[in-house]
Amino acid sequence: MSAKIVAGCLVGLALCVAHAASAQTLTAADLGYLQTTYGITRGSAVIAELTPNETRALHSAIDDLKTYPAGRDREVQSYLALVYGRECKRWARDHAGQQCSPSPLAAAEPGKAISDSVCAECHLFGTATAPSFHQLAMRRDWNAHKVSHALQHTPQMVPITLTQHQLDELALYINSLR
Ligand code: HEC
Repeated sequence: MSAKIVAGCLVGLALCVAHAASAQTLTAADLGYLQTTYGITRGSAVIAELTPNETRALHSAIDDLKTYPAGRDREVQSYLALVYGRECKRWARDHAGQQCSPSPLAAAEPGKAISDSVCAECHLFGTATAPSFHQLAMRRDWNAHKVSHALQHTPQMVPITLTQHQLDELALYINSLR
């Protein structure tokens, strides 16, 4: 009987360890989905800054709904938006004067800063109605005029007035997410 329990424990432990190890990293399939849907790679700040618990939850969000793509996109988008908000708070606490972690491309940083304050909640990962900036960048090359036109003619967006310079910066940032 005791041998049985030991055997059971060993099997249970092996499963448990395997589960814990795989759950703390994103699988190749997870990364493939993140790359094609959001343009996110392993080195992207939103992934690099995840805590182990957040990584585990993101993996579940991606993996559990594989057979229900629309539900999976919504679930992952809202989870990414939630962790990005948390990451920005952690970043801002440790880097005085910065709102979120910087863009890897220095030239895109001013546009990212504008986006982080007024566009990111809807467009960094997208929502059920808003396309992600990655999707928009894949669609066409953006410039100040096209961004301005979109802002003026898309009723779902908050009315916002930006200078020509800010529009240029936003267009550069959106294009950088391709
Ligand atoms: C409250 C959510 C929200 C915010 C904030 C927001 N947008 Fe949007 N945006 C949307 C939605 C929803 C659409 C899609 C509308 C549609 O397809 O009819 C959209 C569409 C767009 C498009 C594409 C238009 C096209 O031609 O297809 C661009 C470009 C865009 N937004 C830029 C921005 C920028 C830049 C900001 C920040 C200054 C911003 N948005 C802020 C919700 C938002």
